[in-house]
Amino acid sequence: MTATQPPAVRVERAGEAEWRIAELLARMTLEEKIGQLTLVPGGGGHVPPSLAEEIRAGRIGAVLNEVDPGTVTELQRLAREESRLGIPLLVGRDVIHGFRTIFPIPLGQAATWSPALVERGARVAALEAAAAGVNWTFAPMVDIGRDPRWGRVAECLGEDPLLASRLAEAMIRGFQGEDLAQPGSIAACVKHFAGYGACEAGRDYAATSLPETELRNVHLRPFRAAVAAGVASVMTSFSDVNGLPATANPLLLRDILRREWGFDGLVVSDWESVPQLAVHGLTADDRASAREAALAGCDMEMTSRTYTDHLPALVRAAEVPPAQLDAMVANVLRTKLRLGLLERAPALSVTLPAPLNDAHRAAAYEAAVASVVLLKNDRAVLPLDPARLRSLAVIGPLADDGHEQMGTWVFDGRAEDSATILPALRARAGEQVEVRYARGVDTTRSLGQEGFDQAVAVAQDADAVVLCLGEESILSGKRTAARTSGSPGAQAALVARLARLGKPLILVVLAGRALALAEVVPQVDALLYAWHPGTMGGPAIADLLFGVSAPSGRLPVSLPRAVGQVPIYYAQRRTGKPAWPAQVIPLDAIPARAGQTSVGNTSYHLDAGFTPLYPFGYGLSYTTFGYAALALSDTVLRRRSALVVSVEVTNTGPRAGEDVVQCYVGDPVASLTRPVRELVAFARVALAAGERRTVHFTLTAADLAFHGRDHRLRAEAGEFRVWVGGNAEATLEARFHLVDDAGHGDLAR
Ligand code: BGC
Repeated sequence: MTATQPPAVRVERAGEAEWRIAELLARMTLEEKIGQLTLVPGGGGHVPPSLAEEIRAGRIGAVLNEVDPGTVTELQRLAREESRLGIPLLVGRDVIHGFRTIFPIPLGQAATWSPALVERGARVAALEAAAAGVNWTFAPMVDIGRDPRWGRVAECLGEDPLLASRLAEAMIRGFQGEDLAQPGSIAACVKHFAGYGACEAGRDYAATSLPETELRNVHLRPFRAAVAAGVASVMTSFSDVNGLPATANPLLLRDILRREWGFDGLVVSDWESVPQLAVHGLTADDRASAREAALAGCDMEMTSRTYTDHLPALVRAAEVPPAQLDAMVANVLRTKLRLGLLERAPALSVTLPAPLNDAHRAAAYEAAVASVVLLKNDRAVLPLDPARLRSLAVIGPLADDGHEQMGTWVFDGRAEDSATILPALRARAGEQVEVRYARGVDTTRSLGQEGFDQAVAVAQDADAVVLCLGEESILSGKRTAARTSGSPGAQAALVARLARLGKPLILVVLAGRALALAEVVPQVDALLYAWHPGTMGGPAIADLLFGVSAPSGRLPVSLPRAVGQVPIYYAQRRTGKPAWPAQVIPLDAIPARAGQTSVGNTSYHLDAGFTPLYPFGYGLSYTTFGYAALALSDTVLRRRSALVVSVEVTNTGPRAGEDVVQCYVGDPVASLTRPVRELVAFARVALAAGERRTVHFTLTAADLAFHGRDHRLRAEAGEFRVWVGGNAEATLEARFHLVDDAGHGDLAR
């Protein structure tokens, strides 16, 4: 595996940098070295005397969660002017989907399938965070999200390694800019390395069991892409991966990340994940935890102090070799050098744009529009036409809640800065349309039905009903957010009650995950899945509902029918008894006292079948798209050459729209069984009504490569299938062969 080759000029600078690092290391005491490996929380708007003292003494290398510009300036001044070596601090913050201007949650951004929009969102976030003195964000999170019970799927970039890779690269470009040392660039941190998303049953922090082939072919791919894209840092996962917690996992941190991928940036633990090695049961005490984490290659410890407390003795006793300590410190110093911190005084640049300015809000609006997925639109109830409406009922606790629409992992956004749905709908509807609101339920979790009558009263006189339901921010994200049910509280009952009125019923779901909505969907006429859309969610949703813009989001995850189906994702392996629609026997068709073998003999759930409610990649618009004339430039692909897949995409409907054309590949026979199909390329295309365009995808053997039985990456010769269309169930198919040339080597994807 090779990382991207840096251009020559960088090599020269890298040489200088290494010299500089060696020179600094030679001047550092043991305590100062360990100080560089120490990341502690800031005081939140002031500098606690103990923190000031530690910074002066060189015992702190980085601070997190301090965003008061004056305080950050003072912290940096202490490090630069009052510590012996004057090394500035890394200042970290979870800038996950915006700083003051909040963009859709990462899962929503993934629904845009647009690297350009994702890059712009990260750029805006970086500019706003840098203005507060932050120089390091703990994003992107690229854990593969195949289990919506896990609350942190909200933060990830979907279920697919290729989509997550392309969007992670874009996010890194946005955060880090052309040059990390430029004002407005901040260091990115790809996390959580690795396997966090595969925690058992979606319970946050639970153990992960992943065969190495699966780890490499699925979960590590976006990390490798992030490293190749030049990500500055990597955060270890809380997970116990196959019995070795990630923070002390030499296979992950040393063999794969450093040796195979050539990563030379900074590896940071997750919050207290070093002492937690003892809680996992890998070590007996903090001393052993510090040793195991350091030996595995975890450079910096987040918030806990086992390195401070135990590394001095461990190094003196040569249990951690001095060379290992120096390598860890060098990784931190290299990151600071790349940020330009050792070259110039870290100043809060007055030239950076003000947060929440019009351009930033416009970018958040565009991202929100593109993130919303239209899943159902019977009888074309959408878009609403203000000229034909007399009155509109808006119902639901999420219709006018600036806090909830921002979503999880927001520390610096403010509810009062959010533009919510209800006023945006009022503005779009115009004065001729009476817009009436009822909450329906108190919160999305409430079980009480006291508000139903008022909701019905509002809805029964309206020409159409917009229901804004789903889950509050706190129900996704970390800690408490693992959930096992579909839509929470009394919301499904509210939908059922309103559905009885027979009015056009439009459900807008705001949620941090794929909810199981099989029972709700048949009762509504239209369904817009809006995730948690951020600061500009209100205008974005109102404009979509009124057709000022057309929906163009596509699902970055499969939407399950029932929670019992999860994990359900399109790129599953085949099994020896694959399910087949004709073989699925509905539960009520099974005769009483059926014999053992009479209930089919394939892989599916009796009460949910084997397909999701909506597949990965799915999404409608206010127009329709057709695919035809799938063609390959050749029937044979040689290693080292390329194959062009082309398809004609036509806007077959009445108005302009954007489609996401998706290309999937399947490897029917391989030395390790492969997923039924895998996304290899995609393109967002804008088409006027009636317009036809030919879309080309270029494939090489690298797109077909996988880690085989020996864990090496290579593509195997043989037949491949390719499908192109609008979601993971695309049926337009072609075939080609990958053929061997003499002397090929292993191939990176
Ligand atoms: C989370 C990380 C986060 C860190 C710092 C941890 O609890 O798992 O994702 O970056 O805290 O806030």
